[in-house]
Amino acid sequence: MNDQEFRQLLNRYEFSWTGYRKVRKGVKKRIHRYMKSIECSNMASFLAELDKNDEIRHQCELLMTVSISRFFRDRGFWQGFKENILPEIMDVDREKIKFWSAGCACGEEVYSFKIIWNLLGHSYLHVPDLEVLATDINPIYLDRARSGIYPPSSLKEVTKEIRSRYFKQKGSKQLFEVKASLKKGITWTNHHLLSDPPGSDFDIIFLRNNVLTYYEDQLKKRAFSNVLESLAPCGILVLGSHETLPFETKDITGVAPYPFVFKKAKG
Ligand SMILES: C[S@@+](CC[C@H](N)C(=O)[O-])C[C@H]1O[C@@H](n2cnc3c(N)ncnc32)[C@H](O)[C@@H]1O
Repeated sequence: MNDQEFRQLLNRYEFSWTGYRKVRKGVKKRIHRYMKSIECSNMASFLAELDKNDEIRHQCELLMTVSISRFFRDRGFWQGFKENILPEIMDVDREKIKFWSAGCACGEEVYSFKIIWNLLGHSYLHVPDLEVLATDINPIYLDRARSGIYPPSSLKEVTKEIRSRYFKQKGSKQLFEVKASLKKGITWTNHHLLSDPPGSDFDIIFLRNNVLTYYEDQLKKRAFSNVLESLAPCGILVLGSHETLPFETKDITGVAPYPFVFKKAKG
């Protein structure tokens, strides 16, 4: 499949070339394999199939998802999140904090969040209950997330202390599994970010490295509006470190020094 054909496919879904350019090799390979499995020999006939067969369209959309992630991706952010942002949220005397990881892939950022929460919890007399919702469009990634097993490359930002405290080594394959205590209290759910939000009044939402990178503007705006609507007043929204807001809005303001972290107005 050449780039021109791949771009035709992206256009069909309103996906962005800029977002897919660097990762296109692997995605093309998966799509090519799938085209073969359904006996489609060229892009024109594949596009025709996508138009008339919802199941094929859905399968192809899943194959186009990119699950690249790692624990504590954007390490500098996590440090500031733990030291400045999270304490401010916890300090308001509350019973419960609702966290949503939107487009959680195989769970790396969800477990990273739980590790930070756990570490911080040791310095507080009262720790609010934590409700964690982790959603993704791709059920295969959610299954991997539930299992909580990762190769060493996913842990390259994890310090030795954290590794020994929150992970156990699995067998001879050099894999690492998150400890059972971290897996508790997480709801993993299949959810498409263009559909209705899976909840409301979230205190913290992570929307990192998914729709704002891989979608074209119109879809970005739709998905982002849904997410914004489900953020609680004074809630924190974290985007990927290279991502920007798809439209200007007075509903949220930046949280310095991070250009990709925002706080919702009081309401
Ligand atoms: C590159 S990973 C990012 C994982 C994690 N948020 C991070 O920043 O490390 C992108 C994830 O977003 C998911 N995704 C893409 N489009 C989505 C959509 N429309 N609705 C829900 N999840 C989506 C993909 O399946 C993939 O697991």
